[in-house]
Amino acid sequence: MEIQSVGIIGCGLMGSGIAQVAAASGFEIRVVEISDEFLEKGIGRIRKGLDRLVKKEKITSEDADAVLSRIQGGTSVADLAPCDLIIEAVTENLETKVAVFSQVREAARADAIIGSNTSSLSITRLMTEVEDPTRFLGFHFFNPVPVMKLVEVVKTLATSQETLDSAFEFTRKLGKTPVLCEDRTGFLVNRLLIPYLLDAVRAWENGTGSKEDIDLAMKLGCGYPMGPFQLIDFIGLDTILHIAEIMYEEFKEARMAPPPTLKRLVMAGRLGRKSGAGFYEY
Ligand code: CAA
Repeated sequence: MEIQSVGIIGCGLMGSGIAQVAAASGFEIRVVEISDEFLEKGIGRIRKGLDRLVKKEKITSEDADAVLSRIQGGTSVADLAPCDLIIEAVTENLETKVAVFSQVREAARADAIIGSNTSSLSITRLMTEVEDPTRFLGFHFFNPVPVMKLVEVVKTLATSQETLDSAFEFTRKLGKTPVLCEDRTGFLVNRLLIPYLLDAVRAWENGTGSKEDIDLAMKLGCGYPMGPFQLIDFIGLDTILHIAEIMYEEFKEARMAPPPTLKRLVMAGRLGRKSGAGFYEY
């Protein structure tokens, strides 16, 4: 199926990024949020992302207006009835996602492709909530969505080859590169990234080096754009903790167990850049 219209549920950090990139690639977008207030915030985030590109003279303000004109906002999943593809990008919580997919089941066209941007939950578990599992898959984007070139396309036992082909084609039209993953917690990137980030915390906890030096070491020694503590603060400590807990639950490997300091910082509300403090102060 050639995808032309895309519905996105959730217009937070990830949903707004996906909407921006897809609208900029010429797709007709419908975004759904739980309230007008959240919708306004999400559209504002997209506008800000486009303004950034205008300021950098990557696009003109007319281009930005044209991108925005391809995005329609609403507060009901029923608005997504005409969409060829629907991507869920709501909070990483199973009950919330299950509730969303029960509305998608009512609203979506029988031949629509349905995807989830989950970074930690099982695509197979979510698949059981939709009408046709052959048309269901994971679409895992990376933060910041307009910058990061990768999309993990996650298949289950039921996902059809036709669905995967459409997903690959769509991803490439966004200017991104897809990689195919089986449905295993963490997929490819988080399977490797999360134990690395947790190990950085453990190295700091056992006094191997300071946070600043560990960050410098990985930036200058390995050419990473951010050190592990900067990246944990960027992603959000609560998000890292949540993914680590689910990965540990699935694999029971010590390297996936969240270290004590990470848990304590989350308990104390130090969630990273978004809360003004994490491993560093902002
Ligand atoms: N939105 C849009 N564009 C952004 C942006 C944002 N939030 N942040 C930065 N950019 C753009 C800038 O405009 C700039 O573009 P140009 O080069 O075209 O001018 C480019 O990115 C570089 O930005 P800066 O020069 O301002 O800053 P930087 O060089 O420090 O880069 C960064 C910032 C792109 C975030 C870079 O530090 C980086 O790549 N960090 C690693 C990010 C990462 O690993 N993300 C994956 C997280 S894991 C995940 O998302 C999955 C999960 O499930 C947890």
